[in-house]
Amino acid sequence: MTEVALFGAGRIGTIHAGNVASQPGVKLKYIVDVDRAAAAKLAGQHGAQTADAEAVFDDSAIAAVVIGSSTDTHADLILRAAKARKAIFCEKPVDLELDRARACAEAVQSSGVVCLIGFQRRYDPTFAAIKARITQGEIGKPEMLIVTSRDPGAPPVDYIKRSGGIFKDMLIHDFDVFRWIMEDEAATVYATGSCLTDQAIAAAGDIDATAVTIRTRGGRLAQINTIRRAVYGYDQRFEVLGSKGMLQAGNHRPTEVTLWSSGAITADKPEYFFLERYRAAYQMEMAHFVDAITNGKPVRTTIEDGIKALELADAATTSWREQRIVKL
Ligand SMILES: NC(=O)c1ccc[n+]([C@@H]2O[C@H](COP(=O)([O-])OP(=O)(O)OC[C@H]3O[C@@H](n4cnc5c(N)ncnc54)[C@H](O)[C@@H]3O)[C@@H](O)[C@H]2O)c1
Repeated sequence: MTEVALFGAGRIGTIHAGNVASQPGVKLKYIVDVDRAAAAKLAGQHGAQTADAEAVFDDSAIAAVVIGSSTDTHADLILRAAKARKAIFCEKPVDLELDRARACAEAVQSSGVVCLIGFQRRYDPTFAAIKARITQGEIGKPEMLIVTSRDPGAPPVDYIKRSGGIFKDMLIHDFDVFRWIMEDEAATVYATGSCLTDQAIAAAGDIDATAVTIRTRGGRLAQINTIRRAVYGYDQRFEVLGSKGMLQAGNHRPTEVTLWSSGAITADKPEYFFLERYRAAYQMEMAHFVDAITNGKPVRTTIEDGIKALELADAATTSWREQRIVKL
């Protein structure tokens, strides 16, 4: 039995708890959260125990930790897990500061522990199918990418204040999609943005709408548009144009039922938010992590991917603040 501890009993921790507990041969042993009531509730749902971090790192039976606690806890927990030689599944971003994130990558590398960063979009069946078809050569070499990434609504301003800003919190996923699909690194980034949906976000020093243009080292182009409010739901689409054609990834709907009436043809709105849209991706990501730790397979979303996405988020933040093109 592979014994696992989970940090964080919030939105994403709740999802990961279910996915850890449902893996064959895996026992979700501990839930750690500074909110003890939240930890106890989640532990109760999965037959786990609550614990503090020391107990987890001192327990030699724990093979892996899943870090789904607030972003500002990630680096410390990665360093402690690497020291204790526990495999690591850590949510994005690795940290808000590149130096600390790089120190985590070095610790992971020197300890040799498995470390997966939670870029779940790569495990999503729709997005993964596009990637496979690009790899099979269906559209030739990808030349342009357009990513649309719109949330149905903003998180509470207290979350925004601790999030590191929209580029590190939200677009980090889009930057990872860009690198994964284009198989190229950014040479230049230009990011502009506004606060359009809630002035409390501007008061917290952040923006809620962005338009980012990236030119790759190979001269190929990507555009990413994001906003923290789309009244029709979570809007997650991208299209990639290659020398031989184009592939598009559309939204998922709860059902495929359409109503045809005298006035209009209507269908379900997209699935509401990330917990619904990426349900399958989170399951597959956890199954992949368990496969990596039990069968010694390499992980597909590494801490180096986490660093690269953070470098892009940093560059975009600078570009937006200083209103200039940033070279990487
Ligand atoms: N990959 C994704 O799609 C995705 C989606 C949402 C959130 N996230 C990431 O997951 C992390 C958590 O986000 P969330 O939306 O679940 O937030 P959340 O606020 O719902 O939950 C965070 C939990 O961490 C707990 N916590 C804080 N400090 C702790 C500590 N020292 N030890 C243990 N627990 C602690 C909090 O009490 C809270 O219960 C963030 O880093 C976020 O960027 C990733």
